Amino acid sequence: MSLVKIGHAELGVRDLDEAAAFYIDVLGFVETAREADRLYLRGVSDTDHHSLILTRAEGPELIHFGWRVDRPEALRELEQRFRRQGRPVRWVSASEEQGQGEALRVHDLCGHPVEFYYSMERVESLARKAHLWRGAVPQWLDHVALFTPHVDAGVTYYQALGLHLSEYVDAEDGSGMFAAWLHRTSSSHDIALVHKPQPGMQHVSFWVANALQVVHVADVVADAGWAACIEFGPGRHKATNSMFIYLRDPSGNRLEFYSEGYWIPDMDAPPIHWTFEDYKREGRLSWGERAPASFFEPIPVRSWT
Ligand SMILES: [Fe+2]
Repeated sequence: MSLVKIGHAELGVRDLDEAAAFYIDVLGFVETAREADRLYLRGVSDTDHHSLILTRAEGPELIHFGWRVDRPEALRELEQRFRRQGRPVRWVSASEEQGQGEALRVHDLCGHPVEFYYSMERVESLARKAHLWRGAVPQWLDHVALFTPHVDAGVTYYQALGLHLSEYVDAEDGSGMFAAWLHRTSSSHDIALVHKPQPGMQHVSFWVANALQVVHVADVVADAGWAACIEFGPGRHKATNSMFIYLRDPSGNRLEFYSEGYWIPDMDAPPIHWTFEDYKREGRLSWGERAPASFFEPIPVRSWT
Protein backbone atom coordinates (compact mmCIF):
# COMPACT_ATOMS: atom_id res chain seq x y z
CA MET A 1 0.00 0.00 0.00
CA SER A 2 1.25 3.42 -0.81
CA LEU A 3 -0.11 6.92 -0.72
CA VAL A 4 0.11 8.81 -4.01
CA LYS A 5 -0.59 12.39 -3.02
CA ILE A 6 -2.68 14.66 -0.86
CA GLY A 7 -5.58 15.30 -3.19
CA HIS A 8 -8.12 17.60 -1.64
CA ALA A 9 -9.32 19.44 1.44
CA GLU A 10 -12.84 20.35 2.57
CA LEU A 11 -13.33 23.63 4.42
CA GLY A 12 -16.39 24.95 6.19
CA VAL A 13 -17.69 28.37 5.13
CA ARG A 14 -20.53 30.43 6.61
CA ASP A 15 -21.90 31.88 3.37
CA LEU A 16 -21.54 29.88 0.17
CA ASP A 17 -22.34 32.78 -2.15
CA GLU A 18 -19.75 34.97 -0.45
CA ALA A 19 -17.24 32.11 -0.62
CA ALA A 20 -17.93 31.64 -4.34
CA ALA A 21 -17.33 35.34 -4.97
CA PHE A 22 -14.02 35.19 -3.09
CA TYR A 23 -12.64 31.88 -4.30
CA ILE A 24 -13.90 31.85 -7.89
CA ASP A 25 -14.36 35.48 -8.91
CA VAL A 26 -11.39 36.98 -7.04
CA LEU A 27 -8.87 34.14 -6.55
CA GLY A 28 -9.58 32.32 -9.81
CA PHE A 29 -10.33 28.82 -8.55
CA VAL A 30 -12.00 26.71 -11.25
CA GLU A 31 -15.52 25.53 -10.46
CA THR A 32 -16.15 21.86 -11.24
CA ALA A 33 -19.58 21.46 -9.61
CA ARG A 34 -22.01 23.16 -7.28
CA GLU A 35 -24.59 21.67 -4.91
CA ALA A 36 -26.99 23.41 -2.53
CA ASP A 37 -24.45 23.32 0.30
CA ARG A 38 -21.15 22.66 -1.46
CA LEU A 39 -18.78 24.04 -4.04
CA TYR A 40 -16.25 21.74 -5.73
CA LEU A 41 -13.21 23.70 -6.92
CA ARG A 42 -9.81 22.97 -8.42
CA GLY A 43 -6.63 24.71 -9.52
CA VAL A 44 -5.80 25.27 -13.17
CA SER A 45 -3.36 22.32 -13.35
CA ASP A 46 -5.49 19.89 -11.37
CA THR A 47 -6.79 16.87 -13.26
CA ASP A 48 -8.96 15.57 -10.41
CA HIS A 49 -12.62 16.57 -10.06
CA HIS A 50 -11.72 18.79 -7.10
CA SER A 51 -8.86 19.78 -4.85
CA LEU A 52 -10.96 22.04 -2.62
CA ILE A 53 -14.52 21.63 -1.33
CA LEU A 54 -16.28 24.53 0.37
CA THR A 55 -19.19 23.36 2.50
CA ARG A 56 -21.80 25.44 4.29
CA ALA A 57 -20.96 25.30 8.01
CA GLU A 58 -21.17 27.25 11.26
CA GLY A 59 -17.74 28.78 10.68
CA PRO A 60 -14.21 28.16 9.49
CA GLU A 61 -13.27 24.53 9.80
CA LEU A 62 -11.21 21.75 8.29
CA ILE A 63 -13.88 19.13 7.61
CA HIS A 64 -11.50 16.60 6.07
CA PHE A 65 -8.50 16.21 3.83
CA GLY A 66 -7.96 13.32 1.47
CA TRP A 67 -5.03 11.15 0.42
CA ARG A 68 -5.19 9.20 -2.83
CA VAL A 69 -3.93 5.61 -2.47
CA ASP A 70 -2.18 3.69 -5.23
CA ARG A 71 -4.71 0.86 -5.75
CA PRO A 72 -8.29 0.08 -4.73
CA GLU A 73 -7.34 -2.83 -2.42
CA ALA A 74 -5.28 -0.41 -0.33
CA LEU A 75 -8.46 0.93 1.27
CA ARG A 76 -9.35 -2.49 2.78
CA GLU A 77 -5.73 -2.95 3.88
CA LEU A 78 -5.83 0.39 5.64
CA GLU A 79 -9.18 -0.47 7.25
CA GLN A 80 -7.68 -3.68 8.66
CA ARG A 81 -4.60 -1.85 9.88
CA PHE A 82 -6.63 0.80 11.70
CA ARG A 83 -9.06 -1.75 13.18
CA ARG A 84 -6.09 -3.80 14.50
CA GLN A 85 -4.91 -0.61 16.17
CA GLY A 86 -8.36 -0.15 17.70
CA ARG A 87 -8.93 3.05 15.80
CA PRO A 88 -12.47 3.86 14.60
CA VAL A 89 -13.04 4.00 10.85
CA ARG A 90 -15.97 5.15 8.76
CA TRP A 91 -16.72 4.33 5.12
CA VAL A 92 -17.91 7.08 2.82
CA SER A 93 -19.92 5.66 -0.07
CA ALA A 94 -19.09 6.40 -3.68
CA SER A 95 -20.45 9.76 -4.84
CA GLU A 96 -21.37 10.84 -1.29
CA GLU A 97 -18.63 13.28 -2.18
CA GLN A 98 -19.22 14.19 -5.82
CA GLY A 99 -16.62 12.70 -8.21
CA GLN A 100 -15.04 10.50 -5.53
CA GLY A 101 -15.28 6.71 -5.21
CA GLU A 102 -15.69 4.95 -1.87
CA ALA A 103 -13.41 6.29 0.81
CA LEU A 104 -12.22 5.48 4.30
CA ARG A 105 -12.28 8.16 6.98
CA VAL A 106 -10.26 8.04 10.17
CA HIS A 107 -8.80 10.42 12.65
CA ASP A 108 -5.03 10.45 12.57
CA LEU A 109 -3.11 10.11 15.82
CA CYS A 110 -3.31 13.86 16.22
CA GLY A 111 -7.12 14.01 15.88
CA HIS A 112 -7.35 15.38 12.35
CA PRO A 113 -10.08 14.12 9.99
CA VAL A 114 -8.21 12.16 7.31
CA GLU A 115 -9.69 10.38 4.31
CA PHE A 116 -8.19 7.77 1.99
CA TYR A 117 -9.63 7.22 -1.48
CA TYR A 118 -8.56 5.66 -4.75
CA SER A 119 -11.04 6.76 -7.39
CA MET A 120 -11.63 10.36 -8.39
CA GLU A 121 -13.30 11.51 -11.60
CA ARG A 122 -10.81 13.10 -13.98
CA VAL A 123 -11.37 16.53 -15.50
CA GLU A 124 -9.56 18.61 -18.07
CA SER A 125 -6.42 20.39 -16.93
CA LEU A 126 -6.36 24.07 -17.83
CA ALA A 127 -2.54 24.16 -17.59
CA ARG A 128 -2.29 24.99 -21.30
CA LYS A 129 -5.37 27.21 -21.40
CA ALA A 130 -3.70 30.35 -20.10
CA HIS A 131 -6.38 32.49 -21.72
CA LEU A 132 -8.83 31.10 -19.12
CA TRP A 133 -6.68 31.79 -16.04
CA ARG A 134 -7.87 34.41 -13.58
CA GLY A 135 -6.98 35.99 -10.25
CA ALA A 136 -4.33 34.25 -8.18
CA VAL A 137 -4.14 31.37 -10.71
CA PRO A 138 -3.90 28.55 -8.13
CA GLN A 139 -2.19 25.58 -9.81
CA TRP A 140 -2.87 22.69 -7.42
CA LEU A 141 -3.30 21.83 -3.77
CA ASP A 142 0.26 21.60 -2.50
CA HIS A 143 0.01 20.75 1.19
CA VAL A 144 -1.96 20.97 4.42
CA ALA A 145 -0.41 22.29 7.64
CA LEU A 146 -1.82 21.14 10.96
CA PHE A 147 -1.49 22.01 14.62
CA THR A 148 -1.09 19.04 16.93
CA PRO A 149 -0.14 18.34 20.54
CA HIS A 150 1.73 15.22 19.32
CA VAL A 151 4.21 16.15 16.57
CA ASP A 152 6.45 13.12 17.17
CA ALA A 153 3.50 10.70 17.13
CA GLY A 154 2.20 12.38 13.99
CA VAL A 155 5.56 11.93 12.28
CA THR A 156 5.57 8.23 13.23
CA TYR A 157 1.98 7.88 11.96
CA TYR A 158 2.74 9.40 8.58
CA GLN A 159 6.09 7.65 8.22
CA ALA A 160 4.21 4.35 8.65
CA LEU A 161 2.10 5.43 5.67
CA GLY A 162 5.24 5.93 3.56
CA LEU A 163 5.98 9.62 4.02
CA HIS A 164 9.52 10.91 4.51
CA LEU A 165 10.70 13.64 6.83
CA SER A 166 12.16 16.59 4.91
CA GLU A 167 12.71 19.10 7.76
CA TYR A 168 12.10 19.25 11.50
CA VAL A 169 12.48 21.64 14.42
CA ASP A 170 13.48 20.63 17.95
CA ALA A 171 10.98 21.33 20.71
CA GLU A 172 11.89 24.35 22.82
CA ASP A 173 12.53 22.16 25.88
CA GLY A 174 14.46 19.60 23.80
CA SER A 175 11.84 16.87 24.19
CA GLY A 176 11.02 15.74 20.65
CA MET A 177 9.90 17.97 17.81
CA PHE A 178 8.21 21.36 17.67
CA ALA A 179 7.47 21.10 13.95
CA ALA A 180 7.96 18.64 11.09
CA TRP A 181 7.52 18.63 7.33
CA LEU A 182 6.82 15.33 5.57
CA HIS A 183 6.61 14.48 1.90
CA ARG A 184 5.30 11.66 -0.26
CA THR A 185 5.78 13.41 -3.59
CA SER A 186 9.01 15.18 -4.55
CA SER A 187 7.64 18.40 -3.05
CA SER A 188 9.37 19.68 0.09
CA HIS A 189 6.25 18.67 2.02
CA ASP A 190 2.77 17.32 1.52
CA ILE A 191 1.92 17.80 5.17
CA ALA A 192 3.34 19.96 7.96
CA LEU A 193 2.83 19.39 11.69
CA VAL A 194 3.34 22.19 14.21
CA HIS A 195 3.00 21.92 17.98
CA LYS A 196 -0.08 23.36 19.70
CA PRO A 197 -1.86 22.04 22.79
CA GLN A 198 -5.03 21.31 20.79
CA PRO A 199 -5.39 19.81 17.28
CA GLY A 200 -6.31 22.31 14.60
CA MET A 201 -5.57 23.44 11.08
CA GLN A 202 -2.91 26.02 10.35
CA HIS A 203 -3.55 26.36 6.60
CA VAL A 204 -4.20 24.76 3.25
CA SER A 205 -1.72 25.75 0.59
CA PHE A 206 -2.02 26.12 -3.17
CA TRP A 207 0.95 26.24 -5.49
CA VAL A 208 1.35 29.22 -7.79
CA ALA A 209 3.74 29.52 -10.72
CA ASN A 210 6.58 31.57 -9.22
CA ALA A 211 7.60 34.24 -6.69
CA LEU A 212 6.12 37.07 -8.76
CA GLN A 213 2.81 35.27 -8.78
CA VAL A 214 2.89 35.18 -4.97
CA VAL A 215 3.19 38.98 -5.01
CA HIS A 216 0.50 39.17 -7.69
CA VAL A 217 -1.91 37.49 -5.27
CA ALA A 218 -1.56 40.56 -3.04
CA ASP A 219 -2.41 42.83 -6.00
CA VAL A 220 -5.38 40.68 -6.94
CA VAL A 221 -7.04 40.72 -3.53
CA ALA A 222 -6.22 44.40 -2.93
CA ASP A 223 -7.62 45.50 -6.31
CA ALA A 224 -10.78 43.50 -5.59
CA GLY A 225 -11.22 45.34 -2.28
CA TRP A 226 -10.02 42.46 -0.13
CA ALA A 227 -6.63 43.83 1.03
CA ALA A 228 -7.65 43.24 4.65
CA CYS A 229 -7.71 39.48 4.02
CA ILE A 230 -3.88 39.43 3.76
CA GLU A 231 -2.69 38.06 7.10
CA PHE A 232 1.04 37.42 6.60
CA GLY A 233 3.43 38.05 3.72
CA PRO A 234 4.50 38.17 1.01
CA GLY A 235 7.75 36.82 2.43
CA ARG A 236 10.04 33.84 2.38
CA HIS A 237 10.19 30.91 4.75
CA LYS A 238 13.77 29.69 5.12
CA ALA A 239 12.41 26.31 6.22
CA THR A 240 11.13 24.73 2.97
CA ASN A 241 12.68 27.70 1.09
CA SER A 242 9.30 28.96 -0.05
CA MET A 243 7.79 32.27 -1.07
CA PHE A 244 4.44 32.70 0.65
CA ILE A 245 1.40 34.82 1.26
CA TYR A 246 -1.34 33.89 3.72
CA LEU A 247 -4.94 35.05 3.40
CA ARG A 248 -8.01 34.60 5.59
CA ASP A 249 -11.13 33.84 3.56
CA PRO A 250 -14.43 35.62 4.42
CA SER A 251 -15.23 32.88 6.97
CA GLY A 252 -11.76 32.95 8.53
CA ASN A 253 -10.12 29.89 6.93
CA ARG A 254 -6.40 30.39 6.38
CA LEU A 255 -5.10 29.87 2.82
CA GLU A 256 -1.54 30.02 1.62
CA PHE A 257 -0.38 30.72 -1.91
CA TYR A 258 3.10 29.34 -2.22
CA SER A 259 5.94 28.82 -4.69
CA GLU A 260 9.64 28.09 -5.09
CA GLY A 261 9.79 25.43 -2.39
CA TYR A 262 12.58 23.05 -3.38
CA TRP A 263 12.06 19.65 -5.00
CA ILE A 264 13.49 16.47 -3.48
CA PRO A 265 15.04 14.16 -6.08
CA ASP A 266 16.23 11.65 -3.44
CA MET A 267 13.42 10.26 -1.28
CA ASP A 268 16.01 8.99 1.21
CA ALA A 269 17.81 12.32 1.60
CA PRO A 270 18.44 13.11 5.28
CA PRO A 271 16.07 15.70 6.76
CA ILE A 272 17.12 19.27 7.46
CA HIS A 273 17.38 19.90 11.21
CA TRP A 274 16.52 23.20 12.93
CA THR A 275 17.09 24.09 16.54
CA PHE A 276 14.10 25.88 18.06
CA GLU A 277 16.15 29.08 18.34
CA ASP A 278 17.32 29.02 14.71
CA TYR A 279 13.84 28.30 13.46
CA LYS A 280 12.39 31.15 15.49
CA ARG A 281 15.20 33.50 14.34
CA GLU A 282 15.16 32.76 10.61
CA GLY A 283 13.43 29.47 9.75
CA ARG A 284 9.86 30.71 9.81
CA LEU A 285 10.77 34.01 8.19
CA SER A 286 13.93 34.62 6.19
CA TRP A 287 12.79 38.14 5.33
CA GLY A 288 9.56 40.12 5.38
CA GLU A 289 7.24 41.55 7.98
CA ARG A 290 6.85 39.38 11.07
CA ALA A 291 3.76 37.22 11.48
CA PRO A 292 0.88 38.79 13.44
CA ALA A 293 -0.46 37.01 16.52
CA SER A 294 -3.54 35.93 14.55
CA PHE A 295 -1.32 33.75 12.33
CA PHE A 296 -0.87 31.31 15.21
CA GLU A 297 -4.60 30.88 15.88
CA PRO A 298 -5.75 27.36 15.00
CA ILE A 299 -8.68 26.81 12.63
CA PRO A 300 -11.04 24.18 14.14
CA VAL A 301 -10.99 20.62 12.77
CA ARG A 302 -14.17 18.53 12.58
CA SER A 303 -14.68 15.33 14.49
CA TRP A 304 -16.96 12.72 12.89
CA THR A 305 -16.92 10.33 15.86
FE1 LIG B 1 -12.89 13.54 0.08
